[in-house]
Amino acid sequence: MAQPFLRIEGVSVHFPVRKGLLQRQVAEVKAVENVSLSLNRGEAFGLVGESGCGKTTLARTVLRLVNATEGAIWFDGQNITELKGAALAPYRKRVAAVFQDPFSSLNPRMKAGAIIAEVLKVHQYSGNVNARVIELLGLCGLSDRFADLYPHQMSGGQRQRVGIARALSIEPDLIVCDEAVSALDVSIQAQIINLLEDLRVRLNLTYLFIGHDLSIVRHLCDRVAVMYLGRVMETATSEELFDNPQHPYTRALIDAVPNPDPLAEAGREHVALKGEVPSPLDPPKGCVFHPRCPIAMEVCRTVEPSLDILTPGHSAACHAASPPQTN
Ligand SMILES: Nc1ncnc2c1ncn2[C@@H]1O[C@H](COP(=O)(O)OP(=O)(O)OP(=O)(O)O)[C@@H](O)[C@H]1O
Ligand code: SF4
Ligand SMILES: [Mg+2]
Repeated sequence: MAQPFLRIEGVSVHFPVRKGLLQRQVAEVKAVENVSLSLNRGEAFGLVGESGCGKTTLARTVLRLVNATEGAIWFDGQNITELKGAALAPYRKRVAAVFQDPFSSLNPRMKAGAIIAEVLKVHQYSGNVNARVIELLGLCGLSDRFADLYPHQMSGGQRQRVGIARALSIEPDLIVCDEAVSALDVSIQAQIINLLEDLRVRLNLTYLFIGHDLSIVRHLCDRVAVMYLGRVMETATSEELFDNPQHPYTRALIDAVPNPDPLAEAGREHVALKGEVPSPLDPPKGCVFHPRCPIAMEVCRTVEPSLDILTPGHSAACHAASPPQTN
């Protein structure tokens, strides 16, 4: 079987909390805890979960903006967690990011053309920079005239197109999209999602797509992982995850999505997710979801469930979703 393109293997990310004059470490934020995931080349992989569950931290670890406390990340057969200094440069050329707020990630004093040209120059692009800028803008559905506009002269959707053009300028293989459409109006979101889908096919891109909106993730992503308090609770193909969720947390997230049909929505009862997400400074013992789980059992308070394969391609970390017995 082919090696996965991106393999996240047992990755934990802990941030030290320091206090006092001596800046002694007094605690640790366990933002990501023992996460293992694999992405195949050319697929769109979704990461979902409530705010603070570690999605951005995991994405930043893949981007090598944050160091893993434990575990390793393999990209195209190479362990990228061990790379340092100049050895990281080839990796940085293959992985790009698109963030939520293009307004804050684009320099307000630079025109769109210059923003993209800057990246081309940093990566020592050997061709005609201006022609390449126009080509990249065109790929993202923007005409030549956008090269001469400042970010504030564009709409949110146009700015995000510039952000995507900038990400594409290094000709990456993997793009990390962290809430890339979350700040946009619904109609604009659909256009940017269509653009991302089109680019994926045209350029054989792989996406790690983080999103709050489950319907967008379902539409765009081939496979999805649901995170809670830094851990993966369930992972499956989008179709399987949304049609046959096995983890109570996944069920609650899906249940919270309103039905677009007002008549169907009017008769629906939602099982509200009670309570707040506990602090990653002091996660609950046993299953970290147990204080909020509607079907928690005694064992859930003491024994942390492992992420077990239920059916090929579908795994869940829950004592109530045991894998089928083999004997
Ligand atoms: N540099 C840091 N130092 C200390 N704690 C951090 C740091 N970065 C993130 N955290 C904490 O790690 C946890 C995970 O945060 P993260 O931003 O990864 O979550 P998220 O799933 O992306 O949330 P959101 O949906 O709100 O973007 C949070 O408790 C956050 O406060
Ligand atoms: S392990 Fe227990 S508490 Fe955790 S999700 Fe499953 S049933 Fe709920
Ligand atoms: Mg985030």
